[in-house]
Amino acid sequence: MTELHLWLRHEVRTTERRTPIVPSDARRLVDSGVTLTVEESPQRIFPVEEYEAVGCRIAPAGSWVSAPADAVVLGLKELPDGPPDLTHRHIFFGHAYKRQPGAADLLRRFVRGGGALLDLEYLVDDHGRRLAAFGFWAGYLGAALAVLQHRGRLQAPLTPTGKDALDETLRPAAGDEEFTALVVGALGRSGRGARVAFREAGVDPTCWDLEETRDLDRGALLAHDVMVNAVLATTPVPPFLREEDLDAPARRLRTLCDVTCDVGSPLNVLPVYDRTTDWTDPARRLRKEPPLDLIAIDNLPSLLPKESSTDFSAALLPQLLDLGVGGPWGRCLDRFHQACRELGIVEGQSRDV
Ligand SMILES: NC(=O)c1ccc[n+]([C@@H]2O[C@H](COP(=O)([O-])OP(=O)(O)OC[C@H]3O[C@@H](n4cnc5c(N)ncnc54)[C@H](O)[C@@H]3O)[C@@H](O)[C@H]2O)c1
Repeated sequence: MTELHLWLRHEVRTTERRTPIVPSDARRLVDSGVTLTVEESPQRIFPVEEYEAVGCRIAPAGSWVSAPADAVVLGLKELPDGPPDLTHRHIFFGHAYKRQPGAADLLRRFVRGGGALLDLEYLVDDHGRRLAAFGFWAGYLGAALAVLQHRGRLQAPLTPTGKDALDETLRPAAGDEEFTALVVGALGRSGRGARVAFREAGVDPTCWDLEETRDLDRGALLAHDVMVNAVLATTPVPPFLREEDLDAPARRLRTLCDVTCDVGSPLNVLPVYDRTTDWTDPARRLRKEPPLDLIAIDNLPSLLPKESSTDFSAALLPQLLDLGVGGPWGRCLDRFHQACRELGIVEGQSRDV
């Protein structure tokens, strides 16, 4: 692809303040000869004027539907329900390849319109590793919320904030009791974020990854006051906690934060709850005596929109500068066609990235 036209769309979800491209990276794209159109968006964490100042074209929210046919529409989360046929190439998290509700409808819209989904979750390097992800901040927030809940300072509803303001609330205060914490999946992106947040809160967590869970010691797990689960399970493993473990007399565990949020999946390592929590009610009591509280929020990075957007954008920028046939984007396109085939959606002429 020689002349790239990217179209950064407004997010329809009103709580979504993140963006995949921040103004400083927009400048890099424009300086590299990319045409970048940015839609106005009342809730985006960066005002549209900052994009305009670095040479982006500005367009009304939702106007991507009439963008030039060759524009690649860039966003993070779901598209609006219309138009029925999607004619453009779209880059975003489609959540459409694991038979999620609405997946087939979304893919049909692409196939009918001749467009394509380049799903950010499947933008991977030659070894299958994700090239742009929000994991670090998910783990950071997961541990931060667990600390606040454990210290009795978690205030609902949760609202987006900045790292400095969040860190202020994490510092131990006079009278705070010391506690022990465990991070599982500690070597991954989310696990790393959780470890950093715990240290910010004055807690040195126990760190487990694959090696430490191979021969799982549930007694040792239950002996921690706080646990953050940040694993990315790819094959079924014995659950880290079962219902009976929550009733174990020796349980010290009081606060459980499940960053992974695989509830309902066969890969779920914490089958001790049946629905996630949210910004309005972030913590749910699973046991009364002794208490055990669960936090399982599936959009954690949105609570730190500036920091999480900035990191994500830095990782995505080199990929956007290299948008073309083959490589990671070619794999994304192949995955889209594969998903359509798996759902029995018949495609006509397939297009290049
Ligand atoms: N709640 C949210 O808002 C949110 C946001 C982003 C990501 N996530 C989820 O967080 C999870 C982690 O994402 P990530 O980007 O950190 O993944 P990652 O691949 O960077 O790290 C996952 C880690 O889990 C470890 N692991 C896998 N199976 C394990 C096991 N059985 N025992 C111990 N460790 C194990 C891996 O070795 C790896 O170190 C994913 O499930 C992801 O979907 C949640």
